[in-house]
Amino acid sequence: MEFFPELTAATLAARLRDAGCVYAEDEAEILLEAARSAQELDTMVQRRVEGLPLEHIVGWAAFHGLRMKVAPGVFVPRLRTEFLVVQAAQILRRLQHTTGRGLNAVALDLCCGSGAIAAALGVEFPGLEIHAADIDQAAVECAAENLAHLSGAAYCGDLFAPLPPDLHGRIGIITANAPYVPTQDIAFMPQEARFFEPDAALNGGDDGLDIQRRIAADAPEWLSPGGHLIMETSPTQAAESVRILERSGFRASSVHSEVLDGTAVVGLFSGEIRS
Ligand SMILES: C[S@@+](CC[C@H](N)C(=O)[O-])C[C@H]1O[C@@H](n2cnc3c(N)ncnc32)[C@H](O)[C@@H]1O
Repeated sequence: MEFFPELTAATLAARLRDAGCVYAEDEAEILLEAARSAQELDTMVQRRVEGLPLEHIVGWAAFHGLRMKVAPGVFVPRLRTEFLVVQAAQILRRLQHTTGRGLNAVALDLCCGSGAIAAALGVEFPGLEIHAADIDQAAVECAAENLAHLSGAAYCGDLFAPLPPDLHGRIGIITANAPYVPTQDIAFMPQEARFFEPDAALNGGDDGLDIQRRIAADAPEWLSPGGHLIMETSPTQAAESVRILERSGFRASSVHSEVLDGTAVVGLFSGEIRS
């Protein structure tokens, strides 16, 4: 702040609030910390006032107590998605407790975006073998960077297609925050999402669940017996997300967190692949 004597956090916050930023004070602090010169700060504030997501301006997003690199055009991880991490962590802790040794499990984060879920799990569970995949090259580059210190691998391609074949039948836990917004609802999303995040990161087809159906259909080939598939969904879609998992042979249920405003379906794979 001492570099910008004429700009206090309060005056910056007032400008951001006038532009409609709900968390103007917090954002002002973040921009003041990020800018390396008065001119850069001015440019950053201008871009924010024009509606660019704060995370794309400063290059990182807060997620599960960590900072994730997020490049322009890459989906910004949401607070509600921390609920997938919570659910996956519960399962991994049970596994750790059962084996009584260090965790020797393989995790895959599908539709990984910046790799936020995978990175959060990797930090919480040293020893976890981490893989992440996304169809968007810019997202995969962010994920590779966010996973680098965890020796995690990130792949670019359609769902399971880019994965190394030796992962078949070996994965203990798959997390997926796949796009699940019904096509006709995209128009009602906040401007930050509609203008600055790719349609492919949001659009889940007619009922929003097209990609979940594809993931559930192919996941059994990749999971080890007793493995889990956890997918983010919404309260209104949860019942259908559960049916999707059940049709692919999973024992499934949905869970919701009021605190995080997150909903997930959790499926347990028995080991029997349905044809
Ligand atoms: C809702 S965003 C979630 C990103 C990340 N998991 C998170 O929570 O921050 C969905 C992601 O799915 C990716 N995606 C969409 N279709 C895909 C496909 N067919 N195969 C792999 N990734 C896909 C998008 O590029 C986008 O990064």
